[in-house]
Amino acid sequence: MIPSSVTLVDVGPRDGLQNEKQPVSAAHKIELVHRLQDAGLREIEVTSFVSPKWVPQMADNAEVMAGIRRRPGVRYSVLTPNLKGLEAALPTRPDEIVVFGAASEAFSQRNINCSIAESVERFAPVVQQARAAGIKVRAAISCALGCPYQGEVSADEVEKVVVLMKGIGVEHCGIADTIGVGTPKRVQAAMERALKHFPLAEVSGHFHDTYGQALANIYACLEMGVQVFDASVAGLGGCPYAKGATGNVATEDVLFMLNGLGIATGIDLDKLVDAGAFISGVLGRAPISRAGKALLTKREKVAA
Ligand code: HMG
Ligand code: MG
Repeated sequence: MIPSSVTLVDVGPRDGLQNEKQPVSAAHKIELVHRLQDAGLREIEVTSFVSPKWVPQMADNAEVMAGIRRRPGVRYSVLTPNLKGLEAALPTRPDEIVVFGAASEAFSQRNINCSIAESVERFAPVVQQARAAGIKVRAAISCALGCPYQGEVSADEVEKVVVLMKGIGVEHCGIADTIGVGTPKRVQAAMERALKHFPLAEVSGHFHDTYGQALANIYACLEMGVQVFDASVAGLGGCPYAKGATGNVATEDVLFMLNGLGIATGIDLDKLVDAGAFISGVLGRAPISRAGKALLTKREKVAA
C-alpha cells in the first residue's frame, strides 16, 4: 500500500508562524515562501484570513499574498473561517482555501468561537462561493486525536465532522492532531473514517509533534496508502488556542524519512534545510528539525 510518491504541504508560513509572539515582517514571510518553492514544495499554506485581534501575526495576509512571486505548478492556500475571510482572500487569488473545523466542541468554541454545527453552517457558503470561483476547498479537522479542553476524542466524533464537511462540498479532508497526542493505531482508526468518505488522494494527515509521535503516525498513514501530509519547515509552530502544543512535524524530518523509503516528493533536502535555517535565523533560534540540525552540523564539520 505504501505510495511511491507523496505530496508535502508546507504549512510553515501559516501554522508555523501564527503562534510567534515577535512580529515577523511580510518580507521575511514572502522570502520563506520563495525559499520553499525553490526547494521544490508544490503546496504551500501561506497565511490565514482570520481576525487580526485573534491572530495578530496573520494581519499582513493580503500583503504577503501580493508579494509572492508565483511559480506555475505551485498551489498557494489560505485559511478562511467565514465569508468575511473569503471575501478578503478572493482578491489575493489563492489556489485553495481551507475551512477549519474541529472534532471537539470545546476546541471549536475556543478556536473559532462557535459550535461545530454553527461552524459547518458558516463554512457552507464559503465552500460554495470558493468552488464557484474555481478554488479548491480543503477542510482541516482539528483535535481529531485529542483536545486540550475535552481530552479524549473518538473516531466516531471525527467521522461526524468528516460527513458534515463532505455534505457541504469540501473536496479534501485533513485529519489534524493539533496537540500531537495521537499514536499510530489511533491515527489509523481516525484516517479510516476519513477514507470512508473521501478518496485516498483527497485525505491528508497534519501532525503536531508535541509527544514525538508524528513520524510514526505518518508512517502508519503511509501503510494505508495516504499520500498527502502537512509539515512545517524547521518544525515551527503551534496553535494559539491549543496551549502547550508544539510545532508541526518538521518538513525536513519527514523528507529525510521519505527519501530513505525511496518515496518521491520532488523536494531538495539541502535547499529545504537552508529555508529552515533562514526562518530560524529570522526568529533568532536554531531549527527544531532534527534532520535540519544534523545536516547543518554535518556541513559545518565538512567546511572546517
Ligand atoms: P468572532 O469574534 O466570533 O467573529 O470570531 P464575529 O463574526 O462576531 O466578528 C467579530 C469581529 O471580528 C468583527 O470586527 C469582525 O469584522 C471581525 P469588529 O467589528 O469587532 O472590529 N472578523 C474578521 N476579521 C478579519 N477576518 C475575518 C473575520 N471574521 C470576523 N475572517 C473568528 C470568529 C473565526 C473570526 C475568530 O474566532 C478567529 O479569527 N479565530 C482565529 C482562529 C485561528 O486562526 N486559529 C488558528 C488557526 S487553526 C489551527 O491552527 C489548526 C490547524 O493547523 C489544524 C490543526 O493543527 O488542528 C488548521
Ligand atoms: Mg496545526
